Amino acid sequence: MSKLSSKDYIAKEEKFGAHNYHPLPVVLSRGEGIFVWDVEGKRYYDFLAAYSAVNQGHSHPKIIEALTQQASTLALTSRAFYNDVLGDWEEYMTKLFGYDRMLPMNSGAEADETALKLVRKWAYKEKGIPKNEAKIVVCDGNFHGRTITIVSMSSDPDARNHYGPYTPGFVNIPYNDLERLEEELKDPNVAGFLVEPIQAEAGVYVPEDGYLKKASELCKKYNVLFVADEIQTGLARTGKMLACDHENVRPDILVLGKALSGGVYPVSCVLADDEVMLTIKPGEHGSTYGGNPIAGKVAMTALDIIREEKLAENADRLGELFRKEMKSIKSEMIETVRGKGLLNAVAIKPTQGKSAWDVCLALKENGLIAKPTHENIIRFTPPLVITEEQMMEAIGIIKTTFKEMGI
Ligand SMILES: Cc1ncc(COP(=O)(O)O)c(C=O)c1O
Repeated sequence: MSKLSSKDYIAKEEKFGAHNYHPLPVVLSRGEGIFVWDVEGKRYYDFLAAYSAVNQGHSHPKIIEALTQQASTLALTSRAFYNDVLGDWEEYMTKLFGYDRMLPMNSGAEADETALKLVRKWAYKEKGIPKNEAKIVVCDGNFHGRTITIVSMSSDPDARNHYGPYTPGFVNIPYNDLERLEEELKDPNVAGFLVEPIQAEAGVYVPEDGYLKKASELCKKYNVLFVADEIQTGLARTGKMLACDHENVRPDILVLGKALSGGVYPVSCVLADDEVMLTIKPGEHGSTYGGNPIAGKVAMTALDIIREEKLAENADRLGELFRKEMKSIKSEMIETVRGKGLLNAVAIKPTQGKSAWDVCLALKENGLIAKPTHENIIRFTPPLVITEEQMMEAIGIIKTTFKEMGI
């Protein structure tokens, strides 16, 4: 048991840390599978899973083995030299996802930035758009990370305000609006359409069936790259390896991150074919840590686990169960239940002075942690290794919590 209490750790962060987050007041010190423990030793169901980075469960023994083995052998070479893991990892990724090439990065935001750079390079070198005229279509409500360029295309004032001047070259359209998309794609200077297959951060907005398919067809028709940000929706979260697989869509550029490492290391990447990927030449893009041997070993193991443990199938089955059970709860506070696989949200109507935050505090008291997004939406995204029995117990906690709130 740790010497400091939760209160002490929270006070320390308050005093010495930047105030760029507002965490739930729980201080975690250990994780295993779908559970985490706080510094007082209390166990919680983790229904956030580090924003879907921990699909394989906390500290999956095989991933930890890969991590520690490689860390004690060779951790980092930079890309000034070759290493004996990256080629294997690139081969693994391109074969698994069906692309010619992979470009490795670390965080999700960096991978999205890489995708944007690829779109622009392709615009000038392949599509023939005049210099500095390329546009990329993005959706209102998007979340692609926190860099200046990425917040330049955000429609969320919290993410965007006071970070100007903003990067130009983006056209915002409503999500799930094919008519507007086609209108914009007619502009010959549009080079790419960047989209999340489900808008997770925005509050788990699932587009109409057929949206992704039709959007990708429109992109093909107008010679525009269809770029899927599957950083949160990918890697089994929605019940398929990729959320695009639900509609048999193959993006021109696929962006992955988060669960690519099972939550033990920042690993992200971009996949594309030669025509797109080879537009970037030596010295034109990179990252000191991108493509390091630890990342490669960890990512291959994390993907092996998704397939061996059939996590997509589990997410699909238990996601259905979760939504059915949530819909059966009789509470004035529950407005809607939506999602796909184990990427789900319950929209809360603030009632009798109680908000989604209060629900999350009450859930925490009862042994389950989740976090509101955009004030009134609670996202429920447990690790995909959860069993049916555990899921039923977790659902029991949620039901009891709403009952205790008495609304
Ligand atoms: C869809 C999507 N893209 C990009 C990101 C950014 O990833 P990172 O926080 O690793 O930069 C996130 C993170 O939540 C995300 O959900």
